[in-house]
Amino acid sequence: MKHFLQVQGLAKRYPSPDGKGRLTVFEDANFTVEKGEFVCVIGHSGCGKSTILNILAGLDEASAGTVIMNGKEVAGPSLQRGVVFQNYSLLPWLSALNNVAFGVRARWPEWNKWQVTEHSMKFLELVSLKDAINRKPAQLSGGMRQRVSIARAFATQPQLLLLDEPFGALDALTRGVIQEELLKIWHETKQTVFMITHDVDEAILLSDRVLLMTNGPHARVAESVKIAIPRPRDRNSVIHHPAYYRIRNHLVEFLLSRSRELTDHAARSGENMNTDPAAIPLEVDPSLENSGIPDLALKRRTARAQVIDHLKPTSTSA
Ligand SMILES: Nc1ncnc2c1ncn2[C@@H]1O[C@H](COP(=O)(O)OP(=O)(O)OP(=O)(O)O)[C@@H](O)[C@H]1O
Ligand SMILES: [Mg+2]
Repeated sequence: MKHFLQVQGLAKRYPSPDGKGRLTVFEDANFTVEKGEFVCVIGHSGCGKSTILNILAGLDEASAGTVIMNGKEVAGPSLQRGVVFQNYSLLPWLSALNNVAFGVRARWPEWNKWQVTEHSMKFLELVSLKDAINRKPAQLSGGMRQRVSIARAFATQPQLLLLDEPFGALDALTRGVIQEELLKIWHETKQTVFMITHDVDEAILLSDRVLLMTNGPHARVAESVKIAIPRPRDRNSVIHHPAYYRIRNHLVEFLLSRSRELTDHAARSGENMNTDPAAIPLEVDPSLENSGIPDLALKRRTARAQVIDHLKPTSTSA
């Protein structure tokens, strides 16, 4: 099956501080994203989440591996991939409207002023900023600035939206409101989103799937966790879904213990993927009755064996 985004054997290495060896931030990162999917990535600080996002954006280079989007290898930045950084990155001398219009004009240079304004306004309205369009970034609150960044990224309608902890600096109330605006805008546009977050509840509210990364160095994308909660979702009702706490516990337990255990195991197995349990992400659906944590070690071994069997060259009879 052809995936919209296919990441294979991705690794990032830096020379070690003493200059004698190399520091592997993450390696053997293998995952896919389907068109229209909303995927969140969670992992401890420093495991390489932003580095992966920047490689997907074409802003950083991998030390090994490939990223294929829509059948083409990602090499360098492109208007087909929009990024929202944690620090807003708006142009301070332009109004909210012109910050969005700037991106829209770059995307559709043939559009006249009226078309650009109308399109930009539509996205500012979706993030409830209709009344603040003429204000410059310095005259906006942090939450409002982040809304402008989100409107700008969605307005240019890239094939892939990359969000690096877009709500990290916001208070809980503002965060909740913008999360719902993000869901609304995503429903409207059906764009594919890859988002980093540290917030387990945010990931469950927003995503179809959560990728879990083990701790660095030598971090891996160890699990792909399905969020089997029907949409539309909102903050108040999602927590009452019967699967909510099963999913939440699964994610929290990964962060508290499995992320470290798998890292320790990987360190013991050196660079041998065949003995590293986290090198191939395990697909988990915690909403199902039989997906308890004790089963995971067995599932992980079975999944790995299946993938390794699949990778083995088939013997052809002479
Ligand atoms: N130029 C560099 N030289 C050496 N190491 C680097 C360099 N740039 C980044 N790193 C290391 O790469 C690792 C991954 O960084 P990255 O920013 O991707 O982490 P992250 O998972 O996004 O963390 P956070 O959750 O804190 O944002 C870090 O340990 C960082 O120290
Ligand atoms: Mg980061």
